[in-house]
Formats: sequence, C-alpha cells, structure tokens
Amino acid sequence: MKPFLSLEHVGVVFPADDGELEAVADVTFSVRQQEFVALVGPSGCGKSTLVRVVAGLLRPTRGRVLFPALGGGKPRVGLVFQKANLMPWRTVEANISLPLELQGLPKAEIRRRVAEMITLMGLQGFEKALPRDLSGGMAQRVALARSFVFNPSLLLLDEPFVALDALTREYLWDELLRMWRRERQTVLMVTHSVSEALLLADRVIVLTARPARVKLQLTVDIPRPRHPDLRYTPRFGELVRRLRAALEIPNLAKAAET
Ligand SMILES: Nc1ncnc2c1ncn2[C@@H]1O[C@H](COP(=O)(O)OP(=O)(O)OP(=O)(O)O)[C@@H](O)[C@H]1O
Ligand SMILES: [Mg+2]
Repeated sequence: MKPFLSLEHVGVVFPADDGELEAVADVTFSVRQQEFVALVGPSGCGKSTLVRVVAGLLRPTRGRVLFPALGGGKPRVGLVFQKANLMPWRTVEANISLPLELQGLPKAEIRRRVAEMITLMGLQGFEKALPRDLSGGMAQRVALARSFVFNPSLLLLDEPFVALDALTREYLWDELLRMWRRERQTVLMVTHSVSEALLLADRVIVLTARPARVKLQLTVDIPRPRHPDLRYTPRFGELVRRLRAALEIPNLAKAAET
C-alpha cells in the first residue's frame, strides 16, 4: 500500500545574521495511513520546522513532501501546538466552530458538530466560557477539539501536552487516543517525552541534534490499550533505554523523567 505521507531528503536552511542556519539536514521517512508516529529529538534540532514543512506552511530548501495515498491531492490538516492559541474574544464553542465557519458549512450542521465535539472532549458547561477563564488543560482540550472538528485526515501535533501537569496530560492522552480510534486520522506528533511517545505511538522516529537527520526508527510492539502503568514494566524500560541511547541522554539527566 502507498504511504500516506512521505518525506524525501527534506532539508531546511534558514537565513541567519552570520550566513545560514541549517535546521534540517536530510530527513527521509514515511507514515502509513492511520499510523500514529511520534517524532523525538534534542531541543532545537528542527522538529517544529519539520511540522511546518509537512503542514505546507514552510517550503523546504531541499527535498519534498508527498502524500502518495492521496494521488496528488493534499490532506486536510489539523494542527495543535504547545500553546492553545485560541481566539481570546471567542467563546469555547465559537473557537471550535471556527474551522467549520471558514469552510462555509450550514449553521445547523456546525451546531451539531460542535455540540458533538464538546461532549466528546468533556467540555460541557464551558460552551460560553472565554479562553481567559479556562485552565491550561481545558484550553488545550478546546484546541484539540478545534483540530478534530473538521475531520482532518492528518493530525500534526507539536508538543501539545508539554505545558500541562502530569495528571492533565494523562487525561488528554486518553482523549486523543479515543478520538484517534474513532476517526483513525494519520498522526505525526512531536514530543520530547520518551514515555509519551511509547505510550501513544505505533512508531517512534528519533532525530539527531541540529541539523536533523533520522537517527532511529523504532516500532512500538506493545499491544493497545496501553495503561500508563506499563511504564513500570521491563519491556517498556527496555524501549525507553533504546530511545534514550539514540537521544544520547546521560543516565541521570533530568530529561529522563519527562
Ligand atoms: N523562521 C526561522 N528563521 C530562522 N531560524 C529559525 C526559524 N525557525 C526555526 N529556526 C531555527 O531552526 C532551528 C530548529 O528550530 P525548531 O523550532 O524546528 O526546533 P525544535 O526541534 O522544534 O526545538 P524545540 O525542541 O525547542 O521545540 C533552531 O536553531 C531555530 O532557531
Ligand atoms: Mg519545537
């Protein structure tokens, strides 16, 4: 079967004060339809840059991004970043409905889909709230709802849970996986958490320090559903060790705990 997404020798060079900054050296990988892939790599190695390239927001300096399974077409992309980036003057439901309004869907259809998403993401009672009255976890839940509501076929998540406390993060993992099981979008998620990658993804791609290249691709052969307590099993520990070795994280580094 043709891959859903293919990156072929993607390289990105930015102009810098003293010449050029090579963010991405040469990245080649592909993602199957409905696959959940996590992208990990040292800070500043070019992960967000790659997300922008895949989203079509940034043109790569070298190489190309293809969607072979779509036969020349482009996917509908849902994007979620570290910060929720909600529109401060719009209520929760008006933030979620925005992509549908932009598509020009009929009002009744928009109302139905927004109401369904509010229920799915556990946002009942907050429909009329403004972003400033939401907790960080709630705001991120609205951002996820806004990206799910228009049935994207590709979900690009750039460290969507990094600013949240551990408990909220685990709730949102659950919600993300529930949505993914239901809709089966293809997912590419950047994270710097090795455990998060192993609990959520089918496959983890490790990048080198900047400029990014693919260092390791690891299939996560742990059956689903994966309870967070799996983190304390020997098999999980073994996969963590392999990823940490690829990331060159020293043994006692704080990064290990994230
Ligand atoms: N628009 C830009 N212009 C110039 N340099 C940029 C631009 N965007 C990113 N960079 C540089 O490219 C490199 C990679 O940045 P990027 O944000 O992709 O890294 P990252 O892996 O997402 O980092 P982090 O883990 O901290 O989020 C960095 O050195 C950054 O300063
Ligand atoms: Mg980043």
